[in-house]
Amino acid sequence: MNYVLVTGASGDIGEACVKQLAKKGYSVYCHYFRNEQKIKSLLSDLILKYPKQDFFALQADLSSPKSVEQITKDMFQLHAIIFAHGDTVYKLLSDTTPDEMTHLWHTHVYNPIRLCQLCQPKLTQHSHSQIVFISSVYGLIGSSMEVMYSTVKGAQIAFVKSYAKEVASMNLTINAIAPGAVDTNMNTLWSKEEKQSLLLDIPLNRLAQPKEVASLVSYLLSEDASYITGSTIPLTGGWSV
Ligand SMILES: NC(=O)c1ccc[n+]([C@@H]2O[C@H](COP(=O)([O-])OP(=O)(O)OC[C@H]3O[C@@H](n4cnc5c(N)ncnc54)[C@H](OP(=O)(O)O)[C@@H]3O)[C@@H](O)[C@H]2O)c1
Repeated sequence: MNYVLVTGASGDIGEACVKQLAKKGYSVYCHYFRNEQKIKSLLSDLILKYPKQDFFALQADLSSPKSVEQITKDMFQLHAIIFAHGDTVYKLLSDTTPDEMTHLWHTHVYNPIRLCQLCQPKLTQHSHSQIVFISSVYGLIGSSMEVMYSTVKGAQIAFVKSYAKEVASMNLTINAIAPGAVDTNMNTLWSKEEKQSLLLDIPLNRLAQPKEVASLVSYLLSEDASYITGSTIPLTGGWSV
């Protein structure tokens, strides 16, 4: 049986990934930060539905380096990691504080990379293992008001390209997905006007659904995708990249 860690399993994209991977037979380490209630309810549904698979809850603040070491110790077998956690800071760079910049850097880049480093021995014990980052279209095209967020999302993409070259000989593949706008909790703060103006930029004229991101994750973990590594796949509804 294959084991996958999904960070941000309490978020909308993470939860959709957990559900699709559980359906495909994976056992899942479901990471959360604050939303324990959502993870408890997700786990009890999964245990009822897939009694032969294992499901674990792992709590960690991924802006803190200590938590990464703890998560690594709490996992035994590991075949794949999906990085689907994160948050943003929505303001001009000139108003962004050093603490906010450090927070975004640690949450999206430093600690995920440290986790990859610590988990590499577990991942490479298998004939094929995978890492997928949920990056962002902003890591490719940039965005005003989210300069630091765009920067760390771009750094994830640069990491994926480099690390893929280093671990290819161990059959560890690593890719990123760069979603445009996804219909999740992260976007509930947009006003109606902001949403309308965003839709004008998206040729398919709608937001992506979390399960559409999860389908691509599920494909990247399949044998059919075993030749894809170091890639970033935009999932944007035609939003220009
Ligand atoms: N929504 C979009 O339009 C969009 C587009 C492109 C990329 N993305 C990326 O997709 C990923 C998932 O976002 P989402 O849209 O699913 O948002 P979401 O529903 O708000 O979920 C965010 C997740 O991140 C976790 N999280 C937040 N801060 C954390 C921290 N300090 N340490 C550990 N976990 C933390 C949350 O945990 P708790 O709830 O347990 O606190 C939650 O599980 C993010 O990396 C985001 O940047 C989203």
